[in-house]
Amino acid sequence: MTRSPPNDVFTARIIAIDGPAAAGKGTLARRLAATLGLPYLDTGLLYRAVGRRVLDAGGDPADPATATSAAAALTEADLRRADLRGPHADAAAAKVAAIPGVRAALLGFQRGFGATGAVLDGRDIGTVVFPDAAVKLFVTASLDARAHRRWLELQAKGSEVGLEAVTKDMRARDAMDQARAAAPLHQAADAHLLDTTGLDPDQAFAAALAIARAGLPPG
Ligand code: C5P
Repeated sequence: MTRSPPNDVFTARIIAIDGPAAAGKGTLARRLAATLGLPYLDTGLLYRAVGRRVLDAGGDPADPATATSAAAALTEADLRRADLRGPHADAAAAKVAAIPGVRAALLGFQRGFGATGAVLDGRDIGTVVFPDAAVKLFVTASLDARAHRRWLELQAKGSEVGLEAVTKDMRARDAMDQARAAAPLHQAADAHLLDTTGLDPDQAFAAALAIARAGLPPG
């Protein structure tokens, strides 16, 4: 992709939001970005788009050479595809995301995107992509709460997948994201923990906004 990393990565207006799937990161990140006037990048889409490219070509998302070439060839148009979500895409994304070459190929784009300030959400934004981000949030919720939320989303789209299957897939994806050697999912030491298990979206947003306002430079 065309955006390249600046020489001096500007982190004073970076909000890094990490956490496991369906913890509410995306909703929070989007609202924070709109409220604070910052661009927003859902970095999960990058890994989803790489997985999709590999699947389209009939390849194995777990194969390092294939997945790394797909990451190097990624375009911004790939991120706008309508078929980046769903159980198949979830699994492919988690597989390509474990490959160091894929992560390296996507790093420059993410840093370039944040060059003048941004909200980014993912798994390694506060630990690897922007370790000096002004604001770091680690957003989580219990496995049951996250699986239930994802199941409701799928139901609303007409899917008949059961809650048990959603819980099982989510547990497997959590395990892959946490256990991989390359940029595993974990809370940065200086990240604020936000557990959304018992919070509605407005309560979670209010808590996140207070943390973000306290951490960003004035103006
Ligand atoms: O956030 P989302 O569920 O869309 O991410 C899809 C997959 O991409 C995750 O399961 C994870 O394996 C990977 N990912 C990652 N690092 C990021 C964002 C996503 O490894 N910064």
